[in-house]
Amino acid sequence: MKRNRIFLSPPHLGKEEAKNVSVAFSSNWISTTGPFIDQFEKNIAKYCHRKTACAVQSGTAAIHLAIKTLGISEGDTVLCQSFTFIGSCNPVIYEKANLIFIDSETETWNMCPNSLRDALEDCRKRKITPKAIIVVHLYGMPAKMDEILSIATEFKVAVIEDAAEALGSKLNNKPCGSFGRLSILSFNGNKIITTSGGGALLSNSLNDINQANFLSTQAKENKPFYEHKKIGYNYKLSNILASIGDAQLKILNDRVIKRRKNYMFYYELLKNTRGITFLNEPKGYYSNRWLTCMLIDKKACGISVDQLISEFEEDKIETRRLWKPMHMQPIFKNNSFYGSGVSDLLFQNGICLPSGSSIDEYDKKRIKRKLTKIFSIK
Ligand SMILES: Cc1ncc(COP(=O)(O)O)c(C=O)c1O
Repeated sequence: MKRNRIFLSPPHLGKEEAKNVSVAFSSNWISTTGPFIDQFEKNIAKYCHRKTACAVQSGTAAIHLAIKTLGISEGDTVLCQSFTFIGSCNPVIYEKANLIFIDSETETWNMCPNSLRDALEDCRKRKITPKAIIVVHLYGMPAKMDEILSIATEFKVAVIEDAAEALGSKLNNKPCGSFGRLSILSFNGNKIITTSGGGALLSNSLNDINQANFLSTQAKENKPFYEHKKIGYNYKLSNILASIGDAQLKILNDRVIKRRKNYMFYYELLKNTRGITFLNEPKGYYSNRWLTCMLIDKKACGISVDQLISEFEEDKIETRRLWKPMHMQPIFKNNSFYGSGVSDLLFQNGICLPSGSSIDEYDKKRIKRKLTKIFSIK
């Protein structure tokens, strides 16, 4: 029998999405203005307990607008979590600002408050005032926001919350997307909900979001003709894509439940296997479990991450290494880094397992059979 490939995190659309798209088509609102954009922005802001939102074409565009909104420019300094996807920090380079990378801690795998403090104290000694801290909730697990926000307040630095992977996650009942001055989301095809490609910038400041909206539509002055005093971008999401997003948002909670069940499936199967560890939720943390990840101690279980990936690949099951930290990337080899090697170890020993909300019982049987064989589970 021909087996279909099991993907890591494929898009998962329902019936409402197609209906919304056809409504957008028949209304002829197919470009960057229209009722679905207004509705999607209102609903996504409400979901994240924010006053307002600007929907754009990618999470990276949302980070770029956050950087512009904070007035970050050539020569400024931005501190960014090292263990992340490069979209978190590329926009800092677009503006020719300097990036300093901060290591992770072991409890959430996100920005280590101690390393952040070390970096900020060093900056102070060198008379550098960083303009922003970019903190990420990787794989859906919230970062230690209480500590990070209080350090940011102490050093008077704005926080940009990269919640690209964490829509639906919560910290002490506060949703990810609600922390810091500005938050960003991604609706890329692999995310917990998708618009095919898309993102959003969220804030409680109407000024910030008005400015982002202005920049996202070519910085056109409010005149009856085209007048420009600033350089802008063509970043705004289309009404068609917003129509998909608004339907996806309605089923987000179901998607979170499904991904959390995936996590429990792997956890129950492997919790007693020597050399395997999972990322537990500390008290007060609620992860959307966007991707289920585990760490493998080769010495204890006799198999390496690369061996495991190729074993899965034989059965057309997609898995992936964890993000390679930014301070280990050739492009950032000259950037400063504060930390003790936690993210290096996560990269070396971690693997992401198939985690889509559309994985069915048949897929799980295939995955279970494979894992049972690899780890000789009785
Ligand atoms: C942590 C993180 N930040 C930023 C991004 C950028 O989002 P996008 O791909 O929508 O530009 C992504 C994902 O793709 C991400 O995982």
